[in-house]
Amino acid sequence: AASFSTSAAFRALADEDRIYTNLYGREDPFLKGALKRGDWHRTADLIAKGPEWLISEVKASGIRGRGGAGFSTGMKWSFMPKNYDRPHYLVVNGDEGEPGTSKDREILRSEPHKLLEGILLAGVAVRAQAAYVYIRGEYRDYRYALEKAIHEAYEAGLLGKNACGTGIEFHVHTQPGAGAYVCGEETALLESLEGKQGRPRLKPPYPANAGLYGCPTTINNVETISSIPTILRRGPQWYSSLGRPNNAGTKLFSIRQGGGHVNRPCTVEEEMSIPLKELVERHAGGVRGGWDNLLAVIPGGSSVPLIPKDVCETALMDYDSLQEAGTYFGTGAVIVMDRSTDVVEAIRRLSWFYKHESCGQCTPCREGSGWLWDILTRIQTGEADVKEIDMAINISKIIEGHTICALGDAAAWPVQGLIRHFRPLVEERIRERRRMRAMNNLPEVD
Ligand code: NAI
Ligand code: SF4
Repeated sequence: AASFSTSAAFRALADEDRIYTNLYGREDPFLKGALKRGDWHRTADLIAKGPEWLISEVKASGIRGRGGAGFSTGMKWSFMPKNYDRPHYLVVNGDEGEPGTSKDREILRSEPHKLLEGILLAGVAVRAQAAYVYIRGEYRDYRYALEKAIHEAYEAGLLGKNACGTGIEFHVHTQPGAGAYVCGEETALLESLEGKQGRPRLKPPYPANAGLYGCPTTINNVETISSIPTILRRGPQWYSSLGRPNNAGTKLFSIRQGGGHVNRPCTVEEEMSIPLKELVERHAGGVRGGWDNLLAVIPGGSSVPLIPKDVCETALMDYDSLQEAGTYFGTGAVIVMDRSTDVVEAIRRLSWFYKHESCGQCTPCREGSGWLWDILTRIQTGEADVKEIDMAINISKIIEGHTICALGDAAAWPVQGLIRHFRPLVEERIRERRRMRAMNNLPEVD
């Protein structure tokens, strides 16, 4: 596999290496078009090779979960029990609530049969009899597209009592979410599917042991599952030859948001490890006002720390490079902020989002996310003191790693990133807003 240290060393993903050939919906998304694109081609032959083969091929490909955490997909499948004494379930996470992220919806809309074929293959691998696709409530039209494709697949005998003529009975159901961000967390999603309030469960036990209705369950993201048929057809070596070791394959990147600070916001499939600068310039038409007008980027959806321009110069879009850069790859959603951005205000708004979406089970998240928002608000209104910067860091450290689910970390990290990279600006903001407050004869605050 290649190692791309600079934009110059990177070559764009070749058309023949694309998994999502209809990403922009230019062709018929439904069965007729899907069959032409090679979906459902001899799926029965792949199924006939059995669960062990399916799992070992996916393991060998090196694919890591595309929902954000990057856990090895093959490894996750291998945790499922090998017997059939209880029902097994496959749950597909299409909740896609992460701000800036808009990749799964493109699959639902334009490549629904890639997802369905992937569901059947993954379902066989984990010995499931049924799959539930949990789809973000706001994605109503995308859910309708998937439901139409499910209907087509049943009519054509690809799903149902005798899926693809293999004698295997396999059913697929959809479930819309109802607007809670935390329901994208896998165990909150299971609670929600069971008809309960969507509150994350403590792990372990992991869903492979006790998942939906207490039964063995595998939960994978929409993008992960829809990559599976192509990986199995083209082979694990093909997939792992793309990207870098430990960061294999292709990935859907969303480059948008931040008020549209790129010239051409888009979702695009590219090779993993593409330099961040290359991704923005080649596919999104560059930063508004040119690269030099860049202030910072949140590279993995809003839950990860931002990185300033100088770090963006050399960062690669993969798990290892972004971790070295002090942030995370997350969902691969790139939020570009140009120099007109009030970065304190941007992170303050994100803070409000996490405070609002906290389910309230854990004290550090429930209280801490509100305190962080409060400090950032006080900074903006001229009520904060410079010493509150360290207080914000301390609060974020108390939240980080001390909660049931990752929403706590997600509330802490953006604030940490802001202070790490923009501390002088934050200090100056505090002084400036205090001066403004005094000029307006507003009362002093301790
Ligand atoms: P996680 O690291 O706890 O788990 C990832 C997956 O690996 C889960 O399926 C988990 O069950 C499995 N796993 C981890 N350790 C395991 C073990 N020892 N044994 C068996 N299975 C194990 O991360 P989590 O909380 O699932 O996801 C956090 C990420 O989600 C964040 O990094 C963020 O980027 C992303 N995210 C994505 C959103 C979206 O809209 N796609 C929304 C919000 C966050
Ligand atoms: Fe709920 Fe926050 Fe705890 Fe997650 S971290 S379980 S959202 S309180």
